[in-house]
Amino acid sequence: MTEHSSSQIGSAEPNIPDDPFDDPSYEPADFVVVANRLPLRHSSAPGDDGWLPSPGGLVSALTSVLQNRQGLWIGWPGTSADQEPPSTYEGIRLKTVAISAEEYEEFYLGFSNATIWPLYHDAIRSPTFHRTWWHTYREVNLRFARTVAENVAPGGTVWVHDYQLQLVPQMLRQLRPDVHIGFFLHIPFPPSELFMQLPWRREILAGLLGADLLGFQLHSSASNFSRLARRLTSATGTDSGLDFEGRAIRIGSFPISVDCDQIVELAADPKVRARAREIREGLGNPEFLLLGVDRLDYTKGIQQRIKAIAEMLDDGLLSAERQVMIQIAVPSRESDAHYEQERHDLERAVSEVNGEHGLVGHPAIHYLHKNLPFDELIALYLAADIMLVTPFKDGMNLVAKEYVMCRGDLTGKLILSEFAGAATELRGAYMVNPHDTDGIKESILLAMNAGPKETRDRMSRMRRMIFRRNVYDWAKAFLAALALTTQ
Ligand code: G6P
Repeated sequence: MTEHSSSQIGSAEPNIPDDPFDDPSYEPADFVVVANRLPLRHSSAPGDDGWLPSPGGLVSALTSVLQNRQGLWIGWPGTSADQEPPSTYEGIRLKTVAISAEEYEEFYLGFSNATIWPLYHDAIRSPTFHRTWWHTYREVNLRFARTVAENVAPGGTVWVHDYQLQLVPQMLRQLRPDVHIGFFLHIPFPPSELFMQLPWRREILAGLLGADLLGFQLHSSASNFSRLARRLTSATGTDSGLDFEGRAIRIGSFPISVDCDQIVELAADPKVRARAREIREGLGNPEFLLLGVDRLDYTKGIQQRIKAIAEMLDDGLLSAERQVMIQIAVPSRESDAHYEQERHDLERAVSEVNGEHGLVGHPAIHYLHKNLPFDELIALYLAADIMLVTPFKDGMNLVAKEYVMCRGDLTGKLILSEFAGAATELRGAYMVNPHDTDGIKESILLAMNAGPKETRDRMSRMRRMIFRRNVYDWAKAFLAALALTTQ
């Protein structure tokens, strides 16, 4: 395996035209967000042919920071379209990084999603290690780093996001030592027993150590990272800061959140509330509506909760007429064999439950494999009595926070895996170990039988926690910590 050197990365000089004013298209940005994906996704679904904003509070929060600082978002437009995405979105500039079909296989499906993703999620599926994938990961990271280097103003600030771009901080530092670099990992950072499997463990750590500030969802991830860096590189220091090659690197936990005001507003919208009533009526006004909303990913523990529901139906603790479940599985990474298998197994499990326990007009589990508009999701959150969030491992899980934000009347119960990052904040949830089917069943029963006072107390405790810090505060806290590193 070849070590990457500064000669591969390119000149250490900023790659800026001699006289930027000679080139009318050259507008360096003081603030750059770089993520694998742009904030837009292409949809060719009937009715919305074209580019749509990617859903979620993260895009809204970063967009508003970029708007205030006339920033630039650098990313990959996704695979679903041949067309170029627009060059601006909501007043912010977008810059595309192209990825070839081969790089899609080796960088995106391969190293990012079949090596790092499973390794960082407790190796729920065995990670695959291929040298060719690693080489392509390095090449694509270098392309991202060069694109940033060419577009960031002298002394500017760059915020790098997530596991697909872990080498960008170091590569960018070599190209542009003048810029301030923050990196945030949205998924867990694994403990050494897992990370040590990675043949390129030192390179990944060195890549991340190029940043001035490294942000993680939880303290445990920050601590895993810091310990590994001290063990495998020349870095010295503590869980909150390291010295590496003559530089000080801050490390912190910044649990991400949701756009509380947007969700509260949508949940109060009469049209959305009417839709929630319509959903319940359409299901025959069940005694209990249970809901799951997940990207269709093997980390999410969807089959575990279906198994628990199936056993409760077998045991006569639930009946398809009185208790109904809706499971929304958002299509994801469909060309990967693990994801294909997961879909296959999940759909078989759902159809077995319905075949055995459903009645004509009353399936026990209503299953949708599609992307839903955000207001339809909010209507589902409003309609559901019990929300099931049971991942085996999850960086945060914003579905849990979205559900809680919808329950302004303090009804609704959340069943939450103790292995979701959100469990450290949402102490009012019914906590479950997703590997423990009996435990999930007991929690569903507890939630079904809880009285109004207990339900109110639990929900208001969770809401207070989320209101304390929304996704805008999250972005502000990270950027304030990054600004401090440069003083
Ligand atoms: C997780 C990751 C994101 C990723 C998203 C969707 O939330 O942390 O980086 O963008 O999943 O996955 P995809 O592979 O479709 O980008």
